[in-house]
Amino acid sequence: MFPVERMRRHRLNSNIRSIFKETNINKDKLIMPVFIDENEKSKKEIKSMPGIYRYSLNDYENYIKYLDDIGVKNVILFGIPKNKDSTGSSSYDKNGIVQNAIRIAKDNTKMNIIADLCLCEYTDTGHCGIIENGYVNNDKTLEIYQKEALSYADAGVDIIAPSGMMDGQVKAIREILDKNNYINTIIMAYSSKFASNLYGPFREAADSTPQFGDRKSYQMDYSNGREAIREIDLDIKEGADIIMVKPALFYLDLIHEAKRLYNLPVATYMVSGEYTMIKNSVLSGLLNENIIDEALTSLFRAGADMVINYFTEDYIKNHK
Ligand code: PBG
Ligand code: ZN
Repeated sequence: MFPVERMRRHRLNSNIRSIFKETNINKDKLIMPVFIDENEKSKKEIKSMPGIYRYSLNDYENYIKYLDDIGVKNVILFGIPKNKDSTGSSSYDKNGIVQNAIRIAKDNTKMNIIADLCLCEYTDTGHCGIIENGYVNNDKTLEIYQKEALSYADAGVDIIAPSGMMDGQVKAIREILDKNNYINTIIMAYSSKFASNLYGPFREAADSTPQFGDRKSYQMDYSNGREAIREIDLDIKEGADIIMVKPALFYLDLIHEAKRLYNLPVATYMVSGEYTMIKNSVLSGLLNENIIDEALTSLFRAGADMVINYFTEDYIKNHK
């Protein structure tokens, strides 16, 4: 109680503030998303995401070496294929865009290589699974996910991150990996992924906009917190090594709750719309760029163990 307790003592100067600092952004726990496009000949900026590019396989090789050189420790890969069809068959092509990108990254860098596993970039419908009578068939989609997972593991991926929100996807992937002796391939489950309005810029980037309807029959209703915990619980039982809350900033309650309830590492994904909101505010001069630090810190403070985010490259470059 005042006057014995004076909180302002902790804030006297920057050295004092440092020793009282409870949360630090851990650079080793930041994960940079990278888009590789089979249709491009060079790198192209994504209009709605200033500073973020889609890379041709060639330019990607240089870029990924550069990320490794500046000290980025983790990347998550997204591929845009040449061919789309009803079953997303190029997602499990041995020579597919992501499979090649995994091999290049493993051969040329020491980073942890994560690959997003979904079908929306590969189906002509833009949905995350196989459509039958206007509805995504869950169990048939799992069979494709298994082929995709196996092809990623064959290419040498460290971590597979299934993002399609099909029931049983973690179990299906763990089964096929174990059956093929990939016992050390890690599964980072997009456990509670919401049908969010924050994915728009990504869908432009990954050319994965649904051609009809929306993703509400598989991604979660953003009103539901308890259901999110149930999703996480199921993924743990199915064999996830890492659980995830996505998006990030509007879902701090769930990051906190997941950390409190479980002993697995909690990842969160600060998505394209979150990047766009912050980046554009900074670029236009409306907000100070320290907002990036504040946003990332809030995620670690809430309990995130790792953060996928598009600021990773710049953040690491600026904090040598
Ligand atoms: C694919 C996928 C999406 C994101 C990550 N994986 C898009 C979606 O579900 O529509 C979103 C990432 C972002 O917005 O940055 N299923
Ligand atoms: Zn998808």
